[in-house]
Amino acid sequence: MTRTAPANLKSNDQCWCGSGRKYKRCHKGSEGRVRPGRVSPMLTVPDGIVPTDYYLTGRPARRDEPMVKSPEIIEAMRRACRIAAEVLAVTGEAVAPGITTDDLDRISHQAYIDRGAYPSTLNYHGYPKSICTSVNEVICHGIPDDRPLEDGDIVNIDVTAYIGGVHGDCNATFLVGEVDPESRRLVEVTRECRDLGIAAVKPGRPLSDIGRAIQGHAEVHGYGVVRTFVGHGIGEQFHLPPNVPHYFTESASTMMKPGMTFTVEPMITLGSWREKMWDNGWTAVTSDGRRTAQFEHTLVVTEDGAEVLTEL
Ligand code: MF3
Ligand code: CO
Ligand code: CO
Repeated sequence: MTRTAPANLKSNDQCWCGSGRKYKRCHKGSEGRVRPGRVSPMLTVPDGIVPTDYYLTGRPARRDEPMVKSPEIIEAMRRACRIAAEVLAVTGEAVAPGITTDDLDRISHQAYIDRGAYPSTLNYHGYPKSICTSVNEVICHGIPDDRPLEDGDIVNIDVTAYIGGVHGDCNATFLVGEVDPESRRLVEVTRECRDLGIAAVKPGRPLSDIGRAIQGHAEVHGYGVVRTFVGHGIGEQFHLPPNVPHYFTESASTMMKPGMTFTVEPMITLGSWREKMWDNGWTAVTSDGRRTAQFEHTLVVTEDGAEVLTEL
């Protein structure tokens, strides 16, 4: 399909895409952008997979849960996190031009089930799929659909597994075919940002050290750091305190303590760090349509740093 307008096309001409609508009411200004596709019906999990409390209702029950976990919970999280990392690897292997994000969702769904895990995103506040797939300018929470990946795209796959009463959460950005050098650099630096954020984890230090490290590295490269979406506590619940901002803010004053579990998951942008939301209520895209990448790990704070739980 053509992705660029003929150079001479005027606002009031018929759109090049064949919709029959005026160019200005159709593709003008959004050539080359990702557009919402068709979302297939929600998948189910078989008996024998222990579901979350929101599988049938779409509403997670809020419970009191300490930020510092017991050794039993941490041990359970090691398993959930390892499974999440495996599902991410299996799904990432399938990334190639022509495969749809819905295909990736189905592959991941089976990979969770094969390992006895429930896909944490499934019906989480009504979210309809087993992973998030965020292409090019999509910052996060892209919903898998019938859009085939194109040569030159970048796609983030975000996997969260629930097993043994706890969640494990990780994501990575993958290259589709031949990707331009500017985007490849963005992906590489974003991974470095995540890893520098994790290297800043130390008991007795405030969480703001993490964002300071990430923002510093991003800005050296002239990149933006998304502010609206942050890392989060994780354990028996998918998202809970503390918030983990990926930019520096004094307000992230919670002190890190051994046994705390949370994610570090910076979203880094080539241009503006501001987002716009799609009408589906989930998907965030950069306000200027430029590309963005993300990497995520779940970790536990140790006596002298961090143990990454979602590493294979
Ligand atoms: N896995 C995402 C995170 O890193 C959250 C996805 S929630 C969903 O926090 F509902 F959008 F799937
Ligand atoms: Co997360
Ligand atoms: Co995630």
